[in-house]
Amino acid sequence: MTPALSELRTERLWLRASNPALADAACDYYRRNREPHARWNPPQPASMFTAEGQRERLAASADAIAAGTLIGWWLFLPDAPDRALGQIHLSQMARAPFCNAMLGYSIDAANEGQGLMREALAAVLADAFNERVGLRRVQANVRPENTRSLALLDRLGFEREGLAREYLFIDGAWRDHVLTALRAPGWPADRAPT
Ligand SMILES: CC(C)(COP(=O)(O)OP(=O)(O)OC[C@H]1O[C@@H](n2cnc3c(N)ncnc32)[C@H](O)[C@@H]1OP(=O)(O)O)[C@@H](O)C(=O)NCCC(=O)NCCS
Repeated sequence: MTPALSELRTERLWLRASNPALADAACDYYRRNREPHARWNPPQPASMFTAEGQRERLAASADAIAAGTLIGWWLFLPDAPDRALGQIHLSQMARAPFCNAMLGYSIDAANEGQGLMREALAAVLADAFNERVGLRRVQANVRPENTRSLALLDRLGFEREGLAREYLFIDGAWRDHVLTALRAPGWPADRAPT
């Protein structure tokens, strides 16, 4: 993996790599969306909702990004650099021979239904599948009840691979998850990982 990018641009969005300078915006984002997103999240530690806690988390993320085990993006409108609109994380990045990562994402409840997450994810996935990162597969696991998220993954071309029973502890119980994945386009089955 070549050196980390600090930003990505899309038609409407400015994506900034996770780093401690985004702590206030990240804290504000999680506070605003604590209730709306509670249904889809594992239990959150109190540090998610303080600027100091976010500074520490984002510093750890920046280290992991530098080490090549994480990609973390925060979404902004170009003319509103203090208000985060969402986040996208590729975690558990495994190198050859797996070349796989786990995808997580969320957008501010006020910005749902505008195609912004799809726009951001298209750019993030294109980057993840290019030579800079070199992933061959991205997995996303979703509760069957999360129809917005499943529709988004369908639009992006993710394939459903099965149902994992009682997979994650979310919103007070172990919840089933639909397992989905997207494979890098143009990577033949017999091409070895690099
Ligand atoms: C899952 C989640 C990211 C989906 O967000 P979203 O805004 O619905 O997704 P998209 O970016 O694909 O936007 C699609 C919607 O924008 C609309 N849209 C408006 N303008 C658009 C444009 N220019 N381009 C594309 N779509 C546009 C589409 O019609 C669609 O609306 P609809 O679903 O009402 O038909 C969001 O619901 C969320 O953050 N949920 C809480 C956290 C969560 O569940 N995370 C995932 C856990 S697995």
